[in-house]
Amino acid sequence: MKAVEFNHVNMKYNEQYVLQDINFSIKEKDFMAIIGPNGGGKSTILKIILGLLTPDDGEVKVFGRDPKHARDLMGYLPQNLSFDPQFPISVYETVLTGRYHGLFKSYKQSDEEAVIQALNDVEMQDFKDRQIGKLSGGQMQRVFIARAIVRNPKLLLMDEPMASIDPDMQSSFYKLMSQLKDEMAIVLVSHDVGAVSTHVDKIACLNRELFYHGPVEDSARGLEEIYHCPIDLISHGIPHRVLREH
Ligand SMILES: Nc1ncnc2c1ncn2[C@@H]1O[C@H](COP(=O)(O)OP(=O)(O)OP(=O)(O)O)[C@@H](O)[C@H]1O
Ligand SMILES: [Mg+2]
Repeated sequence: MKAVEFNHVNMKYNEQYVLQDINFSIKEKDFMAIIGPNGGGKSTILKIILGLLTPDDGEVKVFGRDPKHARDLMGYLPQNLSFDPQFPISVYETVLTGRYHGLFKSYKQSDEEAVIQALNDVEMQDFKDRQIGKLSGGQMQRVFIARAIVRNPKLLLMDEPMASIDPDMQSSFYKLMSQLKDEMAIVLVSHDVGAVSTHVDKIACLNRELFYHGPVEDSARGLEEIYHCPIDLISHGIPHRVLREH
């Protein structure tokens, strides 16, 4: 079964198309990156997969189901998370909310074990009692990655997870991703194709339309030709604004 399927999906905000005739699918245990300029529609696609937004036309399936009925199978790291430094919740409790079973259902010991495991995975176990708002941006990002994986999802969606992560943590991030990939499909949204290209199975470029061309080539030059993305503009982490005409 496919993890995600989009068939002829259109999405408009205020009569303006932000996604136009999007067609793609992701197999189970695939690792796919979506890159593209600001406003290209990347976060919108993730929200449609999650069932938080409903497209105007077309069909979306997540593990063969309507996205709203597949939420339990998905972990999500939203873009641009920030926290009030006074917010009275610890790192541990933040990750535990990712195991929420519904109102009036309490957490079990297996939930607690899953939280510790997830914090270990992102190397944040030493911070478990820290108030969430009193972390650095990169540390907070790692905690929210832990929150996204703590339910052992079959599909992990991450919106710019590298945004405030330093180079050391980047390599351990990709190591973690390659471990997780044995258990789940991963969709990662990023501006930085240079960082993602050697790690993912597939790259798609999104700028209202999706240019999706299958497996990743080794060289950035190959990527440029195949994916029609100006790699030189994005390989150093500089967001690109213009994708070459297809
Ligand atoms: N709730 C909304 N109402 C109206 N327009 C919206 C809304 N949300 C997003 N948009 C518009 O839809 C387009 C796509 O937005 P989206 O957030 O999906 O882009 P993105 O690729 O994630 O961009 P970024 O790289 O900046 O995160 C943008 O032009 C944005 O202004
Ligand atoms: Mg976005």
